[in-house]
Amino acid sequence: MIEAATRTGGEPGAFGERIMELAERLAQWSESTDGLTCTYLSPAHRAVAAEIGDLMRRAGLITEIDAVANVVGRYPTRDQAARALILASHYDTVRNAGKYDGRLGVLTALVVAEHLKRLDRKLPFHLDVIAFSEEEGVRFSSSFLGSCAVAGRFDSKLLERRDAGGVSLAAAMREAGLDPGKIPALGRRREELVGYLEVHIEQGPVLLEERLSAGIVSAIAGSVRMMITVTGTAGHAGTVPMARRHDAAAAAAELLLYVEKRCAQAPTLVGTVGQLGVPDGAINIIPGRCELTLDVRAGDDATRDAAMSDIMAEIDRIAARRGVSFDCREVQRTAAVRCSSHLQSVLSDALTRVGVPPRQLPSGAGHDAMMFDGLTETAMLFVRCGNGGVSHSPREIVTAEDADIAARVVLDAVLQLAEAS
Ligand code: HGY
Ligand code: MN
Ligand code: MN
Repeated sequence: MIEAATRTGGEPGAFGERIMELAERLAQWSESTDGLTCTYLSPAHRAVAAEIGDLMRRAGLITEIDAVANVVGRYPTRDQAARALILASHYDTVRNAGKYDGRLGVLTALVVAEHLKRLDRKLPFHLDVIAFSEEEGVRFSSSFLGSCAVAGRFDSKLLERRDAGGVSLAAAMREAGLDPGKIPALGRRREELVGYLEVHIEQGPVLLEERLSAGIVSAIAGSVRMMITVTGTAGHAGTVPMARRHDAAAAAAELLLYVEKRCAQAPTLVGTVGQLGVPDGAINIIPGRCELTLDVRAGDDATRDAAMSDIMAEIDRIAARRGVSFDCREVQRTAAVRCSSHLQSVLSDALTRVGVPPRQLPSGAGHDAMMFDGLTETAMLFVRCGNGGVSHSPREIVTAEDADIAARVVLDAVLQLAEAS
């Protein structure tokens, strides 16, 4: 039987209040004066890493900032050679972000480890709390840099990736005092891991509509991301007849509308053009160039890939019809992931014990958990989002009560795994 104090997590609500207070604290560092933006290795990002490191140290964890700026805090067990259970999520954000995407998972893991350390409740495995440094892929348009390094999947070619200012990933790392040469050593081996568990806001309306505090992620959609440049012919907006134009922006617009139509044709399929611009454009110049991004996802890879091949065929048709050319650069491809049924049942037992009916639901958003698929058992717990489930927005919101429930579920799951070890 697990000691009540450990399982209940001390004072009711205590976890939730601490998580909300710490989320506010981390949100004080931003690259912009209005809203929260914390992208890879910016001064704000490095300040948040330092703060998380301090919090981990004060919680009694053995703490370090690793070669890709993940903040890793270990609550060790007696046996040095024991395996580790990873509780993790990310601390970077999108631009003009909410305070909880990623950080809710980091802080939930922290308060659980802090609680176990305070009770000196030893586990038969190490408990590794990891705050991943780069999940959103905003600065170098490659997501999961932090988690793929820990999962041993870091592709060194990424080091040549350049940000909008032309700074390479390697140079940005060195400038931040990181040594890219040490990245390969971060990779964990299968035999070193008990499993991977991530708490994350749902970023959707399902739990809100069903009045559930939390839910179990069944699967995570896989995505393909592309940077596309359309090249047409610039010209005078007043003198070139419409039939003689090769307007790059009009071609991009036609593609965008096709993506919208095609990706409405399957339940879990979604397609987004998140960025679209005319470099050096002007009101009286026919766009000669147009740059856009493409993000296509589905609950299974076959559905996604069928949509992608239709989109590529449409690109050829638009190019031929309009006399423009498309340069399509794939910047990321992640396979759809099914979460561990064993860990899902552990979470289900834990949810039942805290009084929340276990509800499974898929994730349309990508998560660091995907990087651990195939390496160790992987599961996620979603937490209800307010404001209609909005995310990637300052309107993102969770409640202290739901955060408290999530922490208790994680604590219960950790103790179940400890008992079963
Ligand atoms: O884009 C995503 O799915 C996640 O927020 N990185
Ligand atoms: Mn996100
Ligand atoms: Mn996230």
